[in-house]
Amino acid sequence: MYDLPDFVYFDHSIHVYKGIGCSTCHGRVDLMPLTYKVNTLYMQWCVECHRNPAKYVRPREEVFNMTYKAPGNQMELGRRLMAEYKVQSLTDCVTCHR
Ligand code: HEC
Ligand code: HEC
Ligand code: HEC
Repeated sequence: MYDLPDFVYFDHSIHVYKGIGCSTCHGRVDLMPLTYKVNTLYMQWCVECHRNPAKYVRPREEVFNMTYKAPGNQMELGRRLMAEYKVQSLTDCVTCHR
């Protein structure tokens, strides 16, 4: 279902390590009778999060939780976790195109 073109670099481990949940990118695969693409793999989607990860970062222990819901104070939590996990905003072209 998910297959990026070869000229794009992608690595799961950094995302998981920095608190990006599986379901943020893959959706609720546990509930889908037929797995379908929740998010397109368009560059805009990657870059939108890279520009402002605070909207999505969750506690590391929740990364595998498929039913996790972002709390009402997500921006506050996101900023705090970004500081704690030292999450950077990586928007240079070379981040994904090497
Ligand atoms: C930042 C977004 C993002 C997150 C977070 C993420 N994935 Fe992915 N996943 C992708 C993308 C993009 C691909 C396609 C990679 C490619 O084509 O090189 C992918 C591919 C996969 C595949 C298919 C691998 C293959 O070789 O066919 C599996 C399985 C998968 N992810 C599971 C997970 C699990 C489990 C988690 C949570 C631990 C997770 N992903 C978290 C974006 C993400
Ligand atoms: C929901 C948020 C989110 C999405 C969507 C996302 N990323 Fe990321 N990405 C991050 C975060 C957070 C980091 C870690 C930044 C840091 O190092 O502090 C990261 C890091 C990376 C890195 C750096 C890895 C390294 O070793 O330097 C690459 C490459 C990358 N992402 C590629 C992608 C690509 C390609 C996509 C789209 C298919 C994507 N990301 C989608 C949040 C996201
Ligand atoms: C966070 C990851 C990420 C960053 C940063 C990024 N790209 Fe991309 N880029 C992608 C992904 C994923 C694709 C493949 C999907 C698509 O074509 O939209 C892509 C595709 C492309 C393509 C091919 C488009 C097409 O129609 O085939 C070009 C050209 C490109 N990027 C240029 C750039 C330039 C220039 C920058 C810096 C300003 C940049 N990218 C930054 C992830 C990224």
